[in-house]
Amino acid sequence: MIEMHYSKKLSEEVRQKFKEHYAEDFGLLFSPGRVNVIGEHTDYNSGFVMPGAIDKGIYCAFAKNNLNSIRMYSLDFEQELILSTDQTEPVDIQWANYILGVFAILRDKKLEVSGFDMVFGGDIPIGSGLSSSAALENAAGFALNQLFDLQLDSITLAKVGQQAEHEYAGVRCGIMDQFASALGKEDHVLQLDCQSLEFEYIPADFGEYQIVLFNSKVKHSLAESEYNARRATCEEGVRLLQKSFPEVKSLRDASLEILEKQRQEFSLETFNCCSYIIEENERVRKANKALKKGQLQKLGSLLFASHWGLSEKYHVSCDELDFLVDLATEHPAIIGARMMGGGFGGCTINVVKKATKENIIDEFQKAYHAKFQIELESYEVRLSKGTHLINSQNYE
Ligand code: GLA
Repeated sequence: MIEMHYSKKLSEEVRQKFKEHYAEDFGLLFSPGRVNVIGEHTDYNSGFVMPGAIDKGIYCAFAKNNLNSIRMYSLDFEQELILSTDQTEPVDIQWANYILGVFAILRDKKLEVSGFDMVFGGDIPIGSGLSSSAALENAAGFALNQLFDLQLDSITLAKVGQQAEHEYAGVRCGIMDQFASALGKEDHVLQLDCQSLEFEYIPADFGEYQIVLFNSKVKHSLAESEYNARRATCEEGVRLLQKSFPEVKSLRDASLEILEKQRQEFSLETFNCCSYIIEENERVRKANKALKKGQLQKLGSLLFASHWGLSEKYHVSCDELDFLVDLATEHPAIIGARMMGGGFGGCTINVVKKATKENIIDEFQKAYHAKFQIELESYEVRLSKGTHLINSQNYE
């Protein structure tokens, strides 16, 4: 069992800032980012995903302030913002919207929340596709739940975070990121049915292999608008299918057979998007079995197939990500790789032979730099527990 370790430096900075700006007494929590082994863009189609929370995340100190204000400080942006607890509209500062959004949604649910202070800082590289925004939404939800004794469970808090993303950040995301960050378990991934929200933990045992992330360090500006556009395309696909198959409520209920039967109704683009989603749901089911049986080669091939579906049918990849997955495909010590998250940049997830990991990282950095003149970053993440309180004993 790998011990969870926290960043002493970050948590100390958060504590210090809180004392400097607000008060001596506060709670301290850790809210993780996430990886996703397989099941991409399936969450908002009521399908299946296989994410896990990681040991990179957000450290957050929080307390009530008995004022009618929300006082927030971001260490990463070195910026403070004070808002009235009556504020309803999103503000110009994006990081603040994740906190404000969660607060406002809880208040709109007629839950008794009032003024509070929050200082946070994290080690999830922004724009890397590791869900720093979900980690922050969950941090806010967890803190408010504690402070005002709201008695909300983790799934409800994850849903509140998702709603904040929709209403305060304008991204019509699925539930995967908030769910994984809230409910993660050490050394496990979770397979989630995004329709019923039933889930199971699967031991993340990759044998002589391990997960390595490569951060392309690009984030193409299309990401958010294209994300919402893909969601709309899938919804359009469901409407077209319903003309002959009214029982289809989401692409999760569809099969390649009925899609084929209805083909004449579809544009090529919508057809491809829908067939990608149907195939990806099937891949998650297969990956579940492969991981449980320790069939890692099989799992790896499913990851490659997922990537090329995302790239060639769903069109959410980019040159940098395709290049990294091409390199991985040719590499004898990598058995699977794909882009991860919404796409248009961020990280790839790779299943890499532990023994040769250092060489691989080096080779990838050189090749990526030669091609794009960008310093590739690599991360070896541990699967961690979902958003939780921390105390001083656990620091590294
Ligand atoms: C983003 C969204 C998630 C999910 C992924 C793609 O991370 O926040 O809900 O849709 O993209 O799988």
